[in-house]
Amino acid sequence: MEKRIALVTGGCGDIGTAICQEFCRRGAIVVAADRLDKDKALLWQSQQKKLGFEIELAFMNVTQYESCANMAKDVETRVGPVDILVNAAGTICDVTFAKMTQQQWNQVVHTDLDSMFNVTRQFINGMIARGYGRIINISSVNAKKGQFGQTNYASAKSGVYGFTKSLALEVARKGVTVNAISPGYVDSRMVNTIPAPIRKKIIESIPIGRLAKPEEIAWAIAFLASEKSGFLTGSNLSDNGGIHMG
Ligand code: CAA
Repeated sequence: MEKRIALVTGGCGDIGTAICQEFCRRGAIVVAADRLDKDKALLWQSQQKKLGFEIELAFMNVTQYESCANMAKDVETRVGPVDILVNAAGTICDVTFAKMTQQQWNQVVHTDLDSMFNVTRQFINGMIARGYGRIINISSVNAKKGQFGQTNYASAKSGVYGFTKSLALEVARKGVTVNAISPGYVDSRMVNTIPAPIRKKIIESIPIGRLAKPEEIAWAIAFLASEKSGFLTGSNLSDNGGIHMG
């Protein structure tokens, strides 16, 4: 990944941070794109610097196309053309379908699925023109297996995989690979919002017997993003501790 420019949406989140750090270790020039307010983002950036990771910041709201277009222009001017894109920004709003409001549906679908278009569309033509690109989209084990309380999230994350396969076909001869990864339950703020008794049952059901560490997911993403993975495209890598095999 030496000197490749990598942009990670949701880059200041728990999994996003681990991805940025892993990419830095591998010599990439890393941009964390997030919707955090500037002060929080600058604090995060200085914490990363103390840990030895030099990470650029960019700001956008992945649910808004214009905001993503402005972010992409800013990054290309300040940092350069993006070679590696990780679509990691995501959200949940768990509620049974019988109680779900339109707002709860839209919030998740706009953030987790529309973002694929809003962000990727900004970078795809540059990657095609330069004949090189690595795109990694974060899906979820719950897109594969379904999850009580997640009709919105499982729909959006299944959409991520359909998007991944179709785009992979379109750019396969252009030097651009497009893959998804479906993490299971990760030790993150998102998973820690699950009520404790339900979370306990989920952890008990994971064959490996624990949550994933964000660094473990980042490691698998770095594998998909590496230059040597040029024959790997349209895949959906399960990284879930054995909770769902298939
Ligand atoms: N399967 C079947 N039945 C279930 C169930 C399950 N998994 N969970 C709950 N039920 C049953 C309950 O036993 C209860 O039955 P009774 O009415 O007979 O008592 C009924 O369904 C209602 O359950 P709740 O009281 O839990 O309903 P609620 O409205 O209070 O809560 C919920 C619903 C918010 C969805 C809650 O169940 C929940 O938080 N579940 C966890 C969802 C989850 O796994 N989210 C993952 C978040 S992290 C993530 O998404 C990252 C990733 O990619 C993996």
